Amino acid sequence: MSKFLTTTAIALTMMAGAAKATDVEVLHWWTSGGEAAALNVLKEDLQSKGIGWVDMPVAGGGGEAAMTALRARVTAGDPPTAVQMLGFDILDWAEQGALGNLDEVAAAEGWDKVVPEALQKFSKYDGHWIAAPVNVHSTNWVWINKAALDAAGGKAPESWDELVAMLDKMKANGITPLAHGGQPWQDATVFDGVVLSKGNDFYKNAFIDLDPDTLGGADMADAFDRLMKLRTYVDDNFSGRDWNLASAMVIEGKAGMQMMGDWAKGEFLKAGQKPGADFVCIRFPGTQGSVTFNSDQFAMFNVSGDDKVKAQMEMASSIESPKFQSAFNVVKGSVPARTDVPDTDFDDCGKKGMKDLAEANTSGSLFGSMAHGHAAPASVKNAVYDVVTKAFNGGYKDGAEAAAALAEAVAAAQ
Ligand code: BGC
Repeated sequence: MSKFLTTTAIALTMMAGAAKATDVEVLHWWTSGGEAAALNVLKEDLQSKGIGWVDMPVAGGGGEAAMTALRARVTAGDPPTAVQMLGFDILDWAEQGALGNLDEVAAAEGWDKVVPEALQKFSKYDGHWIAAPVNVHSTNWVWINKAALDAAGGKAPESWDELVAMLDKMKANGITPLAHGGQPWQDATVFDGVVLSKGNDFYKNAFIDLDPDTLGGADMADAFDRLMKLRTYVDDNFSGRDWNLASAMVIEGKAGMQMMGDWAKGEFLKAGQKPGADFVCIRFPGTQGSVTFNSDQFAMFNVSGDDKVKAQMEMASSIESPKFQSAFNVVKGSVPARTDVPDTDFDDCGKKGMKDLAEANTSGSLFGSMAHGHAAPASVKNAVYDVVTKAFNGGYKDGAEAAAALAEAVAAAQ
């Protein structure tokens, strides 16, 4: 009898599910432990609304591999329903007419008033909402093992010279000073911080305005010299290492620090570590008060079928709810994509991230991340990746040669 009831209940539940739900197929690159934990917050939220989840993960930070997989799907005439996307890539797909229109849900929920201007630049095309922003990450962070910091004097570095002194101390203490994964997007992520450490105007002239003289000039030569100096603090096995394995080296105390966007915090949290006690988050030395940001957004592709479109709208609406924005970003390491979400549930690094973002936004110190597609279109970004990776791996005799190559590569990519 009870077996019969259970079977009937399951059948009824399935029918109810089938009647009201359409699945969303979601292409994303959230495959690390911390990222998967955050993704679960989204999956569960949608499931509670009767929307099923078909997973399409494509690993690789910065989303390069995911964008290649996406192009293949679109070319085959079968785009996924929702796609994690960054900055200029969103505008690129919008320009090709591939994205749906979220105006109705955006208007009903007043997104215009709560999503910061800097994000709307990438969520809207031709005045229409085409993507739902999930979060704001930033790349100019350094994650330091607390015990390693204490053993190296305990004072977090605030300038380039203090940073180098601390890396030397960590080396003398017998650990790998800098945990790094040698992949172009990771090299470029470190370079965001290095370039910003030479000043806001320099970052803007070089990476936002793509000024040839700045790209090829003496300050850029110095930035590359700094990058090459950082290379000397990395262990021998860095090539090809995934970013989350580099985070694990810091978590385990095998390495002193990692220069990485705040998705790294998701790994520390997933490992049960606490900011302040087990690890410390600081801005890349010399970039305090400034933020290089990237925002994960879900772009909704043109799909046929009212039920599919309805599921897309419900997904977009769920993502923008203040409750979800808090719950998801607390786990992900990012901060909310709306200005009206309280910081109550965030840890100290998250609270700092929210405060830094708000201040940088009002003081003109908020810039799109080159490494994560918010400074320039993909062609330019990829040209920067090539030169930065070559420089990190000793492919130029000095910073000046690398800077000259950068100016040339960026010019050719435009
Ligand atoms: C994304 C993050 C992601 C990271 C590493 C970045 O491009 O914005 O959400 O966690 O890549 O995968």
